Amino acid sequence: MTRIAFIADIHHGRDVMTKKSSLGLPLLARFADFVRQERPDIVIDLGDRISDENRERDLLLERQVAEAFKAIDVPVFHLNGNHDRDFLEVADNEQILGQSLGHQIVDLGEWQVILWRADTHIHRLETHSTFRLADGDLEWLAAQMKALLKPTVIATHVPLSGQSQTSNYYFENNPHIARYPETAEIQAVVRAAKVPVICISGHVHWNTLTFVDGIPHVTLQSLTETFTTMPEAAEAWGVLDLGDMVRWSAFGRQRFGFEVDAASTAQRWPQPHGNFHEMRRKAMAAAAL
Ligand SMILES: [Fe+2]
Repeated sequence: MTRIAFIADIHHGRDVMTKKSSLGLPLLARFADFVRQERPDIVIDLGDRISDENRERDLLLERQVAEAFKAIDVPVFHLNGNHDRDFLEVADNEQILGQSLGHQIVDLGEWQVILWRADTHIHRLETHSTFRLADGDLEWLAAQMKALLKPTVIATHVPLSGQSQTSNYYFENNPHIARYPETAEIQAVVRAAKVPVICISGHVHWNTLTFVDGIPHVTLQSLTETFTTMPEAAEAWGVLDLGDMVRWSAFGRQRFGFEVDAASTAQRWPQPHGNFHEMRRKAMAAAAL
Protein backbone atom coordinates (compact mmCIF):
# COMPACT_ATOMS: atom_id res chain seq x y z
CA MET A 1 0.00 0.00 0.00
CA THR A 2 1.25 3.44 -0.94
CA ARG A 3 0.25 6.39 1.24
CA ILE A 4 0.53 10.11 0.49
CA ALA A 5 -0.40 12.93 2.88
CA PHE A 6 -1.52 16.25 1.40
CA ILE A 7 -1.75 19.75 2.79
CA ALA A 8 -3.16 22.71 0.87
CA ASP A 9 -3.43 26.47 1.06
CA ILE A 10 -1.69 26.96 4.40
CA HIS A 11 -1.91 30.74 3.87
CA HIS A 12 0.46 31.65 6.71
CA GLY A 13 0.33 35.38 7.47
CA ARG A 14 -2.16 37.89 8.83
CA ASP A 15 -5.85 36.96 9.05
CA VAL A 16 -7.56 38.02 5.81
CA MET A 17 -11.16 37.69 4.58
CA THR A 18 -12.35 34.26 5.71
CA LYS A 19 -8.83 32.87 6.25
CA LYS A 20 -7.37 32.41 9.75
CA SER A 21 -3.88 32.84 8.34
CA SER A 22 -2.41 33.46 11.80
CA LEU A 23 -3.09 29.78 12.58
CA GLY A 24 -1.01 28.58 9.64
CA LEU A 25 2.14 27.67 11.57
CA PRO A 26 0.50 26.14 14.69
CA LEU A 27 -1.73 23.98 12.47
CA LEU A 28 1.25 22.99 10.33
CA ALA A 29 2.95 21.78 13.53
CA ARG A 30 -0.11 19.61 14.23
CA PHE A 31 0.07 18.25 10.67
CA ALA A 32 3.71 17.30 11.32
CA ASP A 33 2.56 15.31 14.40
CA PHE A 34 -0.09 13.60 12.25
CA VAL A 35 2.55 12.65 9.66
CA ARG A 36 4.73 11.14 12.39
CA GLN A 37 1.82 8.92 13.45
CA GLU A 38 0.44 7.98 10.02
CA ARG A 39 3.79 7.39 8.27
CA PRO A 40 2.93 8.35 4.65
CA ASP A 41 5.60 7.62 2.03
CA ILE A 42 5.67 11.29 1.06
CA VAL A 43 3.96 14.60 1.81
CA ILE A 44 2.70 16.93 -0.93
CA ASP A 45 2.11 20.62 -0.26
CA LEU A 46 -0.37 21.82 -2.89
CA GLY A 47 0.69 25.47 -2.67
CA ASP A 48 -0.49 28.87 -1.40
CA ARG A 49 1.80 28.62 1.62
CA ILE A 50 1.28 32.30 2.45
CA SER A 51 -1.25 35.13 2.38
CA ASP A 52 0.73 37.56 0.25
CA GLU A 53 1.40 41.23 1.13
CA ASN A 54 4.58 42.45 -0.57
CA ARG A 55 7.86 40.97 -1.75
CA GLU A 56 9.87 41.55 1.41
CA ARG A 57 7.17 40.30 3.75
CA ASP A 58 6.35 37.32 1.49
CA LEU A 59 9.98 36.19 1.50
CA LEU A 60 9.88 36.21 5.31
CA LEU A 61 6.55 34.32 5.44
CA GLU A 62 7.76 31.69 2.97
CA ARG A 63 10.94 31.19 5.03
CA GLN A 64 8.86 30.67 8.18
CA VAL A 65 6.73 28.04 6.44
CA ALA A 66 9.84 26.30 5.04
CA GLU A 67 11.26 26.18 8.58
CA ALA A 68 8.03 24.66 9.94
CA PHE A 69 8.09 21.93 7.25
CA LYS A 70 11.44 20.76 8.66
CA ALA A 71 9.46 19.09 11.49
CA ILE A 72 8.17 16.58 8.91
CA ASP A 73 10.39 13.52 8.71
CA VAL A 74 9.30 12.08 5.34
CA PRO A 75 10.13 13.56 1.91
CA VAL A 76 8.07 16.71 1.23
CA PHE A 77 7.28 17.93 -2.30
CA HIS A 78 6.01 21.48 -2.78
CA LEU A 79 3.93 23.11 -5.52
CA ASN A 80 3.52 26.84 -5.92
CA GLY A 81 0.09 28.44 -5.66
CA ASN A 82 -0.88 31.82 -7.00
CA HIS A 83 -0.18 33.51 -3.64
CA ASP A 84 3.37 32.11 -3.69
CA ARG A 85 3.72 33.87 -7.06
CA ASP A 86 2.01 37.25 -6.54
CA PHE A 87 5.25 38.96 -5.49
CA LEU A 88 7.73 36.08 -5.76
CA GLU A 89 9.29 34.14 -8.60
CA VAL A 90 9.54 30.35 -8.88
CA ALA A 91 13.29 30.76 -8.24
CA ASP A 92 12.62 32.57 -4.92
CA ASN A 93 10.47 29.66 -3.75
CA GLU A 94 13.04 27.11 -4.97
CA GLN A 95 15.79 28.84 -3.05
CA ILE A 96 13.72 29.04 0.17
CA LEU A 97 12.40 25.46 -0.01
CA GLY A 98 15.68 23.96 -1.20
CA GLN A 99 14.09 22.04 -4.07
CA SER A 100 13.52 22.41 -7.78
CA LEU A 101 9.93 23.40 -8.61
CA GLY A 102 9.74 22.25 -12.23
CA HIS A 103 7.51 19.43 -13.45
CA GLN A 104 8.49 16.15 -11.82
CA ILE A 105 7.63 12.47 -11.55
CA VAL A 106 7.99 10.78 -8.17
CA ASP A 107 8.15 6.98 -8.36
CA LEU A 108 6.50 5.25 -5.39
CA GLY A 109 6.69 1.64 -6.62
CA GLU A 110 3.24 0.40 -7.73
CA TRP A 111 2.09 4.00 -8.17
CA GLN A 112 3.75 7.22 -9.24
CA VAL A 113 3.00 10.90 -8.79
CA ILE A 114 3.13 13.56 -11.46
CA LEU A 115 3.80 16.95 -9.89
CA TRP A 116 2.46 19.13 -12.70
CA ARG A 117 3.88 22.45 -11.62
CA ALA A 118 2.17 24.47 -14.35
CA ASP A 119 2.41 28.23 -14.00
CA THR A 120 0.18 29.57 -11.19
CA HIS A 121 0.81 33.29 -11.53
CA ILE A 122 -2.48 35.19 -11.92
CA HIS A 123 -2.15 37.80 -14.67
CA ARG A 124 -4.10 40.94 -13.72
CA LEU A 125 -5.26 42.37 -17.04
CA GLU A 126 -7.40 45.49 -17.61
CA THR A 127 -10.51 43.51 -18.42
CA HIS A 128 -10.06 40.42 -16.26
CA SER A 129 -7.64 38.27 -14.28
CA THR A 130 -6.48 34.92 -15.59
CA PHE A 131 -4.11 32.01 -15.19
CA ARG A 132 -2.06 31.21 -18.26
CA LEU A 133 -0.07 28.04 -18.94
CA ALA A 134 3.61 28.71 -19.64
CA ASP A 135 5.26 27.51 -22.85
CA GLY A 136 5.88 23.80 -22.57
CA ASP A 137 3.51 23.11 -19.60
CA LEU A 138 0.87 21.33 -21.69
CA GLU A 139 3.39 19.63 -23.97
CA TRP A 140 5.23 18.16 -20.98
CA LEU A 141 2.00 16.75 -19.52
CA ALA A 142 0.91 15.38 -22.93
CA ALA A 143 4.20 13.51 -23.32
CA GLN A 144 3.85 11.96 -19.85
CA MET A 145 0.19 10.96 -20.27
CA LYS A 146 0.86 9.15 -23.56
CA ALA A 147 3.69 7.16 -22.02
CA LEU A 148 2.15 6.23 -18.64
CA LEU A 149 2.97 2.67 -17.62
CA LYS A 150 1.74 2.66 -14.03
CA PRO A 151 -1.15 4.07 -11.97
CA THR A 152 -0.65 7.77 -11.48
CA VAL A 153 -1.63 10.58 -9.13
CA ILE A 154 -1.59 14.03 -10.74
CA ALA A 155 -1.02 16.81 -8.19
CA THR A 156 -1.63 20.44 -9.14
CA HIS A 157 -2.45 23.69 -7.35
CA VAL A 158 -5.25 24.68 -9.74
CA PRO A 159 -8.02 22.06 -10.24
CA LEU A 160 -8.22 20.46 -13.70
CA SER A 161 -11.92 19.46 -13.51
CA GLY A 162 -13.50 22.81 -14.41
CA GLN A 163 -16.12 22.00 -11.73
CA SER A 164 -19.02 24.28 -10.76
CA GLN A 165 -18.11 26.99 -8.24
CA THR A 166 -21.70 27.61 -7.11
CA SER A 167 -21.68 28.72 -3.44
CA ASN A 168 -17.88 28.88 -3.26
CA TYR A 169 -17.05 32.02 -1.25
CA TYR A 170 -14.20 33.11 -3.53
CA PHE A 171 -15.06 31.64 -6.88
CA GLU A 172 -18.82 31.67 -7.49
CA ASN A 173 -18.40 35.16 -8.93
CA ASN A 174 -14.85 34.51 -10.18
CA PRO A 175 -15.06 31.06 -11.80
CA HIS A 176 -12.52 31.97 -14.49
CA ILE A 177 -9.72 32.01 -11.89
CA ALA A 178 -10.78 28.67 -10.37
CA ARG A 179 -9.37 26.95 -13.47
CA TYR A 180 -6.96 27.33 -16.37
CA PRO A 181 -8.43 28.87 -19.52
CA GLU A 182 -6.88 25.83 -21.24
CA THR A 183 -8.97 23.35 -19.16
CA ALA A 184 -10.48 21.62 -22.22
CA GLU A 185 -7.02 21.05 -23.74
CA ILE A 186 -5.67 19.78 -20.41
CA GLN A 187 -8.56 17.32 -20.07
CA ALA A 188 -8.02 16.07 -23.63
CA VAL A 189 -4.41 15.35 -22.71
CA VAL A 190 -5.26 13.65 -19.39
CA ARG A 191 -7.88 11.36 -20.95
CA ALA A 192 -5.11 9.74 -23.06
CA ALA A 193 -4.07 7.80 -19.94
CA LYS A 194 -4.75 4.07 -20.15
CA VAL A 195 -3.89 3.41 -16.51
CA PRO A 196 -5.64 4.34 -13.24
CA VAL A 197 -5.42 8.09 -12.60
CA ILE A 198 -6.55 10.38 -9.80
CA CYS A 199 -6.14 14.17 -9.77
CA ILE A 200 -5.68 16.10 -6.51
CA SER A 201 -5.53 19.88 -6.18
CA GLY A 202 -5.98 22.80 -3.81
CA HIS A 203 -6.73 26.45 -4.62
CA VAL A 204 -10.55 26.45 -4.33
CA HIS A 205 -10.67 26.02 -0.54
CA TRP A 206 -13.31 23.31 -0.26
CA ASN A 207 -13.50 19.52 -0.16
CA THR A 208 -14.95 18.13 -3.38
CA LEU A 209 -14.99 15.12 -5.69
CA THR A 210 -15.83 15.42 -9.40
CA PHE A 211 -15.46 12.77 -12.12
CA VAL A 212 -14.24 13.75 -15.59
CA ASP A 213 -13.90 10.96 -18.18
CA GLY A 214 -13.93 8.38 -15.37
CA ILE A 215 -11.09 10.11 -13.52
CA PRO A 216 -11.74 11.29 -9.95
CA HIS A 217 -10.74 14.92 -9.37
CA VAL A 218 -10.40 15.81 -5.70
CA THR A 219 -9.97 19.24 -4.15
CA LEU A 220 -8.63 19.54 -0.60
CA GLN A 221 -9.86 22.25 1.74
CA SER A 222 -7.35 24.86 2.92
CA LEU A 223 -5.69 24.37 6.31
CA THR A 224 -6.84 27.80 7.56
CA GLU A 225 -10.05 28.52 5.61
CA THR A 226 -13.23 29.27 7.62
CA PHE A 227 -16.01 29.63 5.05
CA THR A 228 -17.13 26.00 5.26
CA THR A 229 -16.58 25.65 9.03
CA MET A 230 -17.50 29.12 10.36
CA PRO A 231 -16.23 30.56 12.60
CA GLU A 232 -13.38 28.06 13.00
CA ALA A 233 -10.57 27.21 10.61
CA ALA A 234 -11.10 23.99 8.64
CA GLU A 235 -7.81 22.50 9.91
CA ALA A 236 -7.88 20.28 6.85
CA TRP A 237 -5.38 17.83 5.45
CA GLY A 238 -5.78 14.68 3.41
CA VAL A 239 -4.47 11.14 3.06
CA LEU A 240 -4.52 9.11 -0.12
CA ASP A 241 -4.13 5.32 0.24
CA LEU A 242 -3.30 3.70 -3.08
CA GLY A 243 -3.82 0.03 -3.89
CA ASP A 244 -6.47 -1.95 -5.81
CA MET A 245 -8.85 0.48 -4.10
CA VAL A 246 -8.04 4.17 -3.92
CA ARG A 247 -9.13 5.70 -0.62
CA TRP A 248 -9.23 9.47 0.05
CA SER A 249 -9.66 10.74 3.61
CA ALA A 250 -9.82 14.45 4.44
CA PHE A 251 -9.37 15.29 8.12
CA GLY A 252 -10.19 18.41 10.14
CA ARG A 253 -13.49 20.05 11.06
CA GLN A 254 -15.19 18.73 7.92
CA ARG A 255 -14.36 15.05 7.55
CA PHE A 256 -14.77 13.85 3.98
CA GLY A 257 -13.74 10.79 2.05
CA PHE A 258 -14.50 8.18 -0.57
CA GLU A 259 -13.22 4.93 -2.04
CA VAL A 260 -13.05 4.05 -5.70
CA ASP A 261 -11.96 0.92 -7.55
CA ALA A 262 -8.58 1.87 -9.06
CA ALA A 263 -9.22 -0.14 -12.25
CA SER A 264 -12.42 1.84 -12.92
CA THR A 265 -10.41 5.07 -13.15
CA ALA A 266 -8.56 3.67 -16.18
CA GLN A 267 -11.87 3.34 -18.08
CA ARG A 268 -12.46 6.41 -20.26
CA TRP A 269 -16.04 7.49 -20.87
CA PRO A 270 -17.39 8.03 -24.42
CA GLN A 271 -17.60 11.45 -26.00
CA PRO A 272 -20.87 12.98 -24.67
CA HIS A 273 -23.98 12.85 -26.86
CA GLY A 274 -24.69 15.81 -29.14
CA ASN A 275 -27.40 18.39 -28.43
CA PHE A 276 -30.72 16.46 -28.46
CA HIS A 277 -32.80 19.33 -29.85
CA GLU A 278 -30.31 20.11 -32.62
CA MET A 279 -30.11 16.46 -33.66
CA ARG A 280 -33.93 16.11 -33.71
CA ARG A 281 -34.25 19.30 -35.78
CA LYS A 282 -31.68 18.03 -38.29
CA ALA A 283 -33.41 14.64 -38.50
CA MET A 284 -36.80 16.28 -39.14
CA ALA A 285 -35.30 18.56 -41.77
CA ALA A 286 -33.73 15.55 -43.52
CA ALA A 287 -37.07 13.63 -43.41
CA ALA A 288 -38.89 16.57 -45.01
CA LEU A 289 -36.60 16.52 -48.07
FE1 LIG B 1 -5.44 29.53 -1.62
